[in-house]
Amino acid sequence: MPKKTYHIITFGCQMNVHDSHWLAGVLTKRGFAQAPAESAGVILLNTCSVREKPEQKVLSALGRIRQITGGSSDVLVGVLGCVAQQLGDALFEKSSQVRLIVGTDGLAGAPQAIEDLLLNPRQRLSLLDFTRHYVEREDGETSSPVPSAHVTIMQGCDNFCTYCIVPFTRGRQKSRTTEAILGECRTVLGRGTREITLLGQNVNAFGQDKSGDGTTFSQLLGRVASLPGLARLRYVTPHPKDMGEGDIRDFARLPQLCPRLHLPLQSGSDQVLSRMRRGYTRSDFLTLVDRLRKARPDLALSTDLIVGFPGESEEDFEDTLNTMRECAFMSSFSFCYSDRPGARASLYPDKVPSPVAQERLLRLQSLQEDLASRWLQGRVGQETRLLIEHPSPKQECASSTSWQGRDPYGTPVHVHLPPQKDHTGCMVDATITLAKKHSLMAVCPGTP
Ligand code: SAH
Ligand code: SF4
Ligand code: F3S
Repeated sequence: MPKKTYHIITFGCQMNVHDSHWLAGVLTKRGFAQAPAESAGVILLNTCSVREKPEQKVLSALGRIRQITGGSSDVLVGVLGCVAQQLGDALFEKSSQVRLIVGTDGLAGAPQAIEDLLLNPRQRLSLLDFTRHYVEREDGETSSPVPSAHVTIMQGCDNFCTYCIVPFTRGRQKSRTTEAILGECRTVLGRGTREITLLGQNVNAFGQDKSGDGTTFSQLLGRVASLPGLARLRYVTPHPKDMGEGDIRDFARLPQLCPRLHLPLQSGSDQVLSRMRRGYTRSDFLTLVDRLRKARPDLALSTDLIVGFPGESEEDFEDTLNTMRECAFMSSFSFCYSDRPGARASLYPDKVPSPVAQERLLRLQSLQEDLASRWLQGRVGQETRLLIEHPSPKQECASSTSWQGRDPYGTPVHVHLPPQKDHTGCMVDATITLAKKHSLMAVCPGTP
């Protein structure tokens, strides 16, 4: 029988990272030990479909696994996540080593499936059905406390933006029940977590689906914010068209809610936004930003942007650059558009040639670097509060007394703290002294 050791490789978004973290916790609880790919008895690949050539990426990762393991049938190989959902049982044909395929709604059943397959070395298994409701999972947290934790509040998406594969890979929107969410939040807070990030593909549509229990996103936020022990609350990802009055007011009413919002713009051109089916115009977005900033004057915004969407003209692209300037995004994820099979925009005829899109991406990223460095420079001299996460990585600060924390905006900040103490999970006051490219340096009162 293969050894009870596992290795998980993760591609994709925060939900995938969170899912892998959960699975690792449950496997550990079931007596498995984490191991390098070279010696693991179970190798799991948690996959993402959102970027270019996702299928090729998975197949080449499977090729590497075959090389590392010599194709041994003693190693149980499983594929999970969005590409697993998309390709389904076809993955069995593509790689004879794969014995487990787990789609996005099947994850709760993965730990048991792994144990069953270890007992039945000739069996192959797939868990690919979409469910009507969110399937609750066993507790995957191990005892070691983490300063910051993610809690899933919903899964799937009903928006069908014309470029996006997510509604096909994660299925229809399914909200968790408020009680299950609050229960998980209480558990992580009981273990010493101080910061919670609520996760979902479209969080502010929480509750507006068949699984909803009548609680709105804003009500949920209020209830999580009032849990004892919680210092900071964040959420990702909201959709601009679903940001209601209550969601805006929350930034004024809930002190635990951090003054940082990731709000995906995608494009600053009305023509492109309409062909993306985003459900808002440039001016709607700017009005929303204005109202948010009135509610929370120190709010910092980050975003997602796509360049080279079919039909995007130079003028459309400049509208995006201008909107970025107006919103002064502190950071952004930006991508060249690429076709996703099944997504409507893949059928649009007027594709932007790749060199044009690449050149636009570089211009956009260079503007973003300016905006980010201006934002970081503007923080120098400010007083802030840090949630300490771990010692600073050596490449950031070689000193053994330097610790990395996050400020309320989520920016990594390095600070010297008294030696011979584990500061993980502490909240400390600090003054920012220096802006680096992607992080800040700070000093604490009373610490040299
Ligand atoms: N639910 C989130 C994130 C979805 S996917 C949201 O609505 O924002 C993450 C990001 O990938 C998207 O915001 C988008 O910017 C990018 N993306 C998705 N499909 C893409 C495609 N076909 N080509 C390029 N970028 C894409
Ligand atoms: Fe994709 Fe749009 Fe849903 Fe986000 S809101 S997951 S971009 S379909
Ligand atoms: Fe990727 Fe699926 Fe997340 S496609 S971005 S892993 S929802």
